[in-house]
Amino acid sequence: LEEIFTGSFFAKKERIKKFYTELFRAIPFFSDQEGDTINLHQVRVAFLASALGAEILEANRILMFLAGLYHDLGAVGASLHPVRAFSLSDYFVDPWLANHPLRSAQILRKFDRLKPVASIVVEHHEWYDGGGFPFKKKAGEILPEAQALRITDSFDAAMLLTGRIDEALKLLEKKASREFDGDLYSIFKHFIKTNDFEFLWHQPQTALELAISQLESIKILFDDSEIFCLLKAFDVKRYPQPGHTRRVRDLVALISAEIGYVQPDALIRAATVHEVYTVYEPYKGSYLGAVDKKEVLEYFELLSEAFADLEKDPFVSELVYAVCYVDRKLSHYETGLSEEDFLDVLSYLNGRVNPEVLLAINRVLKEHSESIYKDMIKRRRLL
Ligand SMILES: [Fe+2]
Ligand SMILES: [Fe+2]
Ligand SMILES: [Fe+2]
Repeated sequence: LEEIFTGSFFAKKERIKKFYTELFRAIPFFSDQEGDTINLHQVRVAFLASALGAEILEANRILMFLAGLYHDLGAVGASLHPVRAFSLSDYFVDPWLANHPLRSAQILRKFDRLKPVASIVVEHHEWYDGGGFPFKKKAGEILPEAQALRITDSFDAAMLLTGRIDEALKLLEKKASREFDGDLYSIFKHFIKTNDFEFLWHQPQTALELAISQLESIKILFDDSEIFCLLKAFDVKRYPQPGHTRRVRDLVALISAEIGYVQPDALIRAATVHEVYTVYEPYKGSYLGAVDKKEVLEYFELLSEAFADLEKDPFVSELVYAVCYVDRKLSHYETGLSEEDFLDVLSYLNGRVNPEVLLAINRVLKEHSESIYKDMIKRRRLL
């Protein structure tokens, strides 16, 4: 019996590890989601920046690849995908968009091993002449890796507008003297004309497969707090309450234990991904170099299951969305939570969820909301 027990314990641990690894790999795709389409911007920038960086700067290929993959993560929740912003004023229409290099770096910095990636990412909108953001650094003050990221990032935006390498270069020419180091840009022009990168825009399935296999070769293990830090990027789409996903996961786990007969794994996974869906409005133009969300999901077994449960399993979706509502309400209170706050939330849910689930939510909130929300309220008071 003992053997079976330990066996299944480790099997479960393996599943958790696999789920976290899937999330880490899937986030660069899902943070580029416009409607049901994944535009693969960060994937293309990752390939271009790592190849350019390795060729001319002797930069670490993997660090550059990861910098490309996560550089716009902090923009999730903005009014438009950063690749659709072409001039500086487009970024400053929305403060969230203007802040995205800082937010991306803030998230990546939480991973010890990704700190060098964060240092590159935070500078990916600095201009050579000092006219960029957020620090207005110029020339030699900007990391060469960040300058390479800047060029490939702009180039992808130009490709999406023109569809052809020569046309995209023509479009960039006007920005080049202000934004890029002249020597680096000349090298880039030669690099993009002589390497065969057109498939990135014209055969997105191939780009997707290549990106997946690259990601599979990168071995990083994650713990709970790192994964939930990455997921914070998705918490802010509709309400600025960081940590929402993690609190929903914690509450759902407690409630399923309270109900007793519910298999917690599926519920916990569904709670973990419940904010990871469309992050930007569908794009109105044509999608060059994009793939369907379904095509990406095929590569992620546990993630697909979690999304399917949220869509099709009435019990899972009811409970997760009820708890999502609970957290949205309770995390807004500025001072301590009162009996009335709970009653408001519970009376809203009454009739909307199964009575047994409602009772379990009630018991869990009574017992645990202090510890879950107290720190948050304290922290807000300190700010
Ligand atoms: Fe960006
Ligand atoms: Fe970008
Ligand atoms: Fe939610």
